[in-house]
Amino acid sequence: MTTSVHTGRIDPPAQQGRGSIDIRGVSKLYRRAGSPPVQALLPVNLSIAPGEFVSLVGPSGCGKTTLLMMLCDLLDPTTGTVLIDGRPVLAADPTVSIAFQKPTLLRWKTVLDNVLLPARIMHKLDEGARRRADELLQITGLNAFKDRYPHELSGGMQQRASIVRALVTDPNVLLMDEPFAALDEFTRDLLNDELLRLWTNRRKTVVFVTHNISEAVYLSDRVVIMAPRPGRVLDVIDIPVPRPRRAEMRDDIEFMQVVRRIRTSLNDSSGPTAGETKQPALVEEQS
Ligand SMILES: Nc1ncnc2c1ncn2[C@@H]1O[C@H](COP(=O)(O)OP(=O)(O)OP(=O)(O)O)[C@@H](O)[C@H]1O
Ligand SMILES: [Mg+2]
Repeated sequence: MTTSVHTGRIDPPAQQGRGSIDIRGVSKLYRRAGSPPVQALLPVNLSIAPGEFVSLVGPSGCGKTTLLMMLCDLLDPTTGTVLIDGRPVLAADPTVSIAFQKPTLLRWKTVLDNVLLPARIMHKLDEGARRRADELLQITGLNAFKDRYPHELSGGMQQRASIVRALVTDPNVLLMDEPFAALDEFTRDLLNDELLRLWTNRRKTVVFVTHNISEAVYLSDRVVIMAPRPGRVLDVIDIPVPRPRRAEMRDDIEFMQVVRRIRTSLNDSSGPTAGETKQPALVEEQS
């Protein structure tokens, strides 16, 4: 699989089909009245194949959320376009779902009503959506809690519910912004395996944001390494670890080598002048 970053090489278009993503010269400059603009992201070119699992890793402020928001049209790019299945992405596209770091469940609705909400909003609350909700609640061990309210659930269970909610409209593309960051390591490992099981069964295209290199390697086909000030893609690497992934693979030499490679790349880019030497003319973030 080929990839290009902002250095200029352009990929051939992603093989089109259910859930292909083509990111073409997508950049973001935030303008704020009374302050200098912030170059949150330099142009990114990246093609993601249908059913591929891609993670974005990088330190705070490197533009991961900004990029994810542009992939579902919650934010307009300053330059470039995002194509999903060959067409410009539009907000509220039922084929694209997003799960955030916080589960954002409605506290006055039951788990079942929460997970059915996107289907209701999109006027697609049909038998298919109800069946999918049932299956997904079953798979994620939430079936016995479907009539409970969010405050009666643990953090991990709430996060599971938010993932079920993101999948209930049967999207082709699932975007996830640090969905497990607030959880303890044990719960996160469990949810990593659950997510992989769901992905293997349903083959969504997943773009997954994390600060956790090991998590990115464990889950992904490819990892996009990003750096801040200005936000940019440094490299995109293929993960050579075979599937199906199992927890004990985290101790394999191959796994550890790829984790080390990503960490080194991130460390090399995080020196005090790393961003400036690559892009001296750009505005620094005002903190
Ligand atoms: N609405 C906004 N207005 C101005 N600047 C913004 C806005 N949103 C984000 N930024 C800036 O854009 C840059 C990228 O932010 P973004 O939230 O995409 O980073 P991130 O990689 O998701 O960080 P984190 O890991 O902390 O979530 C940062 O410098 C941030 O301060
Ligand atoms: Mg973020």
